Amino acid sequence: MKEGKGEIELIKEGKRLDGRGFEELRPIKIEVGVLKRADGSCYFELGGNKVIAAVYGPREMHPRHAQDAKMAVVRYRYNMAPFSVDDRKRPGPDRRSVEISKVSREALDPVVMREYYPKTSIDVYVEVLQSDAGTRTAGINAASVALADAGIPMKDLVSSVAVGKIDGEVVLDLDAMEDNNGEADMPVAMVARTNTITLLQMDGRFEKEEFERGLKLAMSACHKIYELQRAALIDRYSESVGEGEE
Ligand code: CDP
Repeated sequence: MKEGKGEIELIKEGKRLDGRGFEELRPIKIEVGVLKRADGSCYFELGGNKVIAAVYGPREMHPRHAQDAKMAVVRYRYNMAPFSVDDRKRPGPDRRSVEISKVSREALDPVVMREYYPKTSIDVYVEVLQSDAGTRTAGINAASVALADAGIPMKDLVSSVAVGKIDGEVVLDLDAMEDNNGEADMPVAMVARTNTITLLQMDGRFEKEEFERGLKLAMSACHKIYELQRAALIDRYSESVGEGEE
């Protein structure tokens, strides 16, 4: 659990160390359809985070005993590249990536219309190329867009961001310096259109009022991210339509 080391001053003259206000997101960049061999893909940048999501399927599921006769099975693999962190990360799965893969899959599951594709798998791979805290949220945003790019029928997109507490203040979208030295970190994912929360985790501690304020802040930021995800998809597909017409 976070204790808030309090050794580093994270807020100076009402601003965070990178100059952001308390309720400000880091810059976001989204590119759709970046991988030729995947059925759907998305590159997502959130400040210093750079992630790629690739979606394959629906395709016949192996091993067969893992198939669901009534619907598709969504599999999600979150992986951090060894060079994505300050200290080299040992390649391969670890407890953290297994946990992130599980909660991220559960964050997306409710929107995927799995009943259309019995006995198949929909495989989502998220590769973190560079990390700066919030990689699971960036991964979920990327995966959601990549699923749409793959043409998988979905009720809607899922959008995700974290809120936290640094120097006693509730702030949006912590970077690694804030995450490492702050008091709390709470990633949230939601279906923005219906305000349905599909992921909520917490590391550290919030007072009840801070939790409520933080959740509101995260939800409002998810609405902004949703608009950017939509815009990136519209941009991509209006481009292909345009190309076809020429
Ligand atoms: O990335 P996210 O905030 O979703 O998950 P976290 O477990 O709270 O990790 C926060 C940050 O710690 C990551 O984004 C990385 O920048 C850093 N980290 C690291 O440097 N080495 C690791 N093995 C794991 C995380």
